[in-house]
Amino acid sequence: MFDLTGRVAIIPGGGGAIGSALAQGLADAGAAIALVGRSKERVDQAVAKVAASGGRAVAISADATDPEEAQRAINETVGEFGRVDIIVNAIGGGAGNVLHDAQEYPGDDWDWIMELNVRSTLLPTQAAVRQMVEQGDGGRVINISSVRGQLGINAGYSAYVAAKGAIDSLTRQWATEWAKHGITVNAISPTFVDTPQVASLLGDPEFKARILSRIPLGRVGTTDDLLGAVLLFCSEASSFITGQILTIDGGLTATQ
Ligand SMILES: NC(=O)c1ccc[n+]([C@@H]2O[C@H](COP(=O)([O-])OP(=O)(O)OC[C@H]3O[C@@H](n4cnc5c(N)ncnc54)[C@H](OP(=O)(O)O)[C@@H]3O)[C@@H](O)[C@H]2O)c1
Repeated sequence: MFDLTGRVAIIPGGGGAIGSALAQGLADAGAAIALVGRSKERVDQAVAKVAASGGRAVAISADATDPEEAQRAINETVGEFGRVDIIVNAIGGGAGNVLHDAQEYPGDDWDWIMELNVRSTLLPTQAAVRQMVEQGDGGRVINISSVRGQLGINAGYSAYVAAKGAIDSLTRQWATEWAKHGITVNAISPTFVDTPQVASLLGDPEFKARILSRIPLGRVGTTDDLLGAVLLFCSEASSFITGQILTIDGGLTATQ
């Protein structure tokens, strides 16, 4: 049920901490993977790791916030592997770099966070789904949201919570619109995952203690913690599941 042999997955953000770990996991499950990022070096490194373990992967350098580049990334994936079955949207974040009181949140930082998290998900997904519709045999869209789509945090996160709230809403909207094409759309919503993006926040002992005190399982996530849910949403095992947002948070949202 979880076998992805013969499937082609594109991972915008595939050179990142979470994207590269998911690329490895999807390749191990049998999928051919296209990894997309602006830095060719970063996606090349992730591709080399997948290839070293016997997987099939290609690196594509493109800016996912540009419609033509997003379309080119899909075209190159199809050129390389013949089709697109799965898109895992792994671009986003930035919250820790732009912490501001809500009443002072500057417009340019707001626009940057929305672009990094929402536009970078929107454009590659539109291009991938146009391809899936043309293929005519369904597909899978997996978004990476955050518990911040559902929960506030007293740490200057206005733009990020708005962006992830938009991802949650789009997950439900796309699931509704694209069901007629046999395309399912689901999201994972992690709490903090031990990655470079949040290293400085988690490096503050007071902040980390406050976060851990709210997580029943008593730790933050690892990139490996995300793989099981992503494999579920990519595979036949989830054929009757769509529009769902699965929190991966050690029980954090259960306590709220
Ligand atoms: N880390 C966490 O604690 C955590 C928790 C909850 C949710 N998340 C979510 O998980 C996702 C991945 O996070 P992460 O920690 O893996 O971040 P990351 O390591 O920074 O990876 C993001 C990747 O996206 C690429 N990227 C950024 N802008 C791009 C653009 N315009 N076009 C193409 N590629 C672009 C970056 O590569 P280039 O700069 O080379 O383009 C980078 O490799 C994000 O949506 C984040 O919000 C993370």
